[in-house]
Amino acid sequence: MILVTGGTGLVGSHLLYKLVLEHEKVKATYRNESKISNTKNIFSCYTEDFDTLFNAIEWIQADLVDVPALSKAFLGVTKVYHCAAFVSFEPDKYQLLRKTNIEGTANIVNLCISNNIKKLCYVSSIATLGEALNNEPISEETNWNPEDDNSVYAITKYGAEMEVWRGTQEGIDAVIVNPGVILGAGIWRYGTGSLFKKAKKGLKYYTSGTLGVVSVDDVISVMTILMESEITNERFVLVAENWTYKNFLQALAKAVHATPPIKIANHSLLSIAWKLDWLKHKITGKRRLLTKHIVKSLITETHYSSDKIKTALNYKFKAVEETIKTTGIHYLNQK
Ligand SMILES: NC(=O)c1ccc[n+]([C@@H]2O[C@H](COP(=O)([O-])OP(=O)(O)OC[C@H]3O[C@@H](n4cnc5c(N)ncnc54)[C@H](OP(=O)(O)O)[C@@H]3O)[C@@H](O)[C@H]2O)c1
Repeated sequence: MILVTGGTGLVGSHLLYKLVLEHEKVKATYRNESKISNTKNIFSCYTEDFDTLFNAIEWIQADLVDVPALSKAFLGVTKVYHCAAFVSFEPDKYQLLRKTNIEGTANIVNLCISNNIKKLCYVSSIATLGEALNNEPISEETNWNPEDDNSVYAITKYGAEMEVWRGTQEGIDAVIVNPGVILGAGIWRYGTGSLFKKAKKGLKYYTSGTLGVVSVDDVISVMTILMESEITNERFVLVAENWTYKNFLQALAKAVHATPPIKIANHSLLSIAWKLDWLKHKITGKRRLLTKHIVKSLITETHYSSDKIKTALNYKFKAVEETIKTTGIHYLNQK
């Protein structure tokens, strides 16, 4: 029996789809009943017969910080894919991020140890890698520097990775994947899916930085191959291609038949924008859309190398242009 945490998220749902399609016995964790519709929605992007596949999942309600509920989820499980996390760059969410990502992962790791789990796959992020040195591409070897100006999200994903490495010292076999920006269909209200929604509404500006992109199909394929392999206690950067924001946002616009952004947002404009966004958050309590760290990533040129996974598995990533096109089609066809 396989356990997938975060079964209602982009990665968890796509992984569940692949696993049930392959007739694996799966359990998945969820928090709110209402969010399970995300998973059904994602299944319905790929098959008419989504109900049959969806019904093959055993759902267990368990927050990452609820150890008794998690213990129940682990009954009869031999492999674990830990996809659940709180994704936020808002500094005032730091304590919740720590609790969910670090304490939550520590709970998963402890239960893997006490239940003699055969293998754990943890979904980390490129956010846990250090900054480029001498213009070299960033890879698994680019070590985290606690002295860097790291975002609250990065700090807690790094802390979570440390929990997984601690687990490997205590006897569990684990693999970690560090994806870049993951694109995939089905969740359009938030996460990377909301970029398609924003592109459809019309984006005026692009920024000067670059981003590392990968399709959700590649992420889940690599995860399952790694879990079936002899490889243990290694981490792998998953970035199919490095794109400029200009090309990326223009391709998104094209994919949803919208007008592409043609003006560049310079540093001072972005700096004013994140401060105004902060003020709006303080006055209205609305979620922050732009933070200092998001702005930094929008204007920084960083290049990631996935040579390690390409070599280890002889793996070939999907072309990002194709991923953007197909995700755009799903966005336009949504019911
Ligand atoms: N999306 C990306 O571009 C990207 C890039 C790099 C790495 N990652 C990593 O990939 C993993 C999956 O991300 P995603 O894109 O699938 O994110 P997502 O769509 O936001 O899904 C996150 C999942 O985690 C669950 N979750 C959040 N807090 C939880 C808690 N306290 N207890 C139990 N479950 C909780 C969510 O449940 P609810 O539905 O109830 O909220 C949801 O199922 C995460 O570890 C993320 O850090 C994502």
